[in-house]
Amino acid sequence: MEIANRQILITGASRGMGRVFAMMCAENKAYLHIVIRKSDPELVEQLMKNGAKDVKVYEADLGTRAGVESLLEKLKETPIDILFNNAGILVGGLLENQSVNEIYEMLSINVNALMHLTHGLLPGMLSRKRGKIINHASVAAYMNLPALSTYCASKAAVAAFTESLRLELKGTGVSTLLLVTPGVKTKLYDNLEKSCEKNIKFPGEAISPIKYIEIVREAILQDLKRLEPSGLPGLGLKIVKFVKPIFDFEISRRFRRD
Ligand SMILES: NC(=O)c1ccc[n+]([C@@H]2O[C@H](COP(=O)([O-])OP(=O)(O)OC[C@H]3O[C@@H](n4cnc5c(N)ncnc54)[C@H](OP(=O)(O)O)[C@@H]3O)[C@@H](O)[C@H]2O)c1
Repeated sequence: MEIANRQILITGASRGMGRVFAMMCAENKAYLHIVIRKSDPELVEQLMKNGAKDVKVYEADLGTRAGVESLLEKLKETPIDILFNNAGILVGGLLENQSVNEIYEMLSINVNALMHLTHGLLPGMLSRKRGKIINHASVAAYMNLPALSTYCASKAAVAAFTESLRLELKGTGVSTLLLVTPGVKTKLYDNLEKSCEKNIKFPGEAISPIKYIEIVREAILQDLKRLEPSGLPGLGLKIVKFVKPIFDFEISRRFRRD
């Protein structure tokens, strides 16, 4: 799908990959609808300067059902072409050390809000016979790691949801793009390193958000259904798929409980 002149809704646009994605869409002359938690006039100014056709801001907390409902209410009359379900948080560490409140919050944002927004915007896309739903999963959906159990589960849910929808939407004009994202240098990645460093050492380097979003842009333009990483994370995915015992052995070697 083209990016130019499309109405694009981006959650988690305040920073990290969401922000870089919004900048990329602005440069590609799209109409932007950005979902953030706190007003950010500088961001809007920058997006307009970068070439956005227009920028609409929606303040919403996606950690609550009411937050998602009120966002959908505001979008009732807006023909969104591309929905980028990007907002997410990470809770890491041994399960018994994770906070139950934080687990609930993570599942609300990473899973419930993503499904709810898709549910709310899909009927309009279907009636217009045009749309793309981009869901931000992770290599963690497949590489199920110790000290990251609840986060991996949240991303596995995103992957399963998106793969089911891909089949369900065949021939409707609405497509899905599943992002099986590797480590990308953002605040979430720093949090991952901090919350898991006592228990596991992750192999490989994180890439820059700008580099990754450029690859995502190509995937949108080429209408790919799934974006998997290359290099070491890509190899890791193949090992998980075809020789799981090797993956488990290598991860067990890197993991310690204390
Ligand atoms: N970085 C990686 O290595 C990596 C790898 C695989 C997948 N991912 C996925 O990529 C996506 C983007 O993450 P990132 O790495 O760019 O992280 P990030 O820099 O931490 O950005 C996360 C975004 O989510 C927003 N958000 C968090 N809680 C929210 C809430 N309750 N309501 C609305 N928005 C909320 C944040 O907004 P505030 O500024 O308001 O907090 C922020 O804009 C996530 O789904 C993540 O799981 C990341």
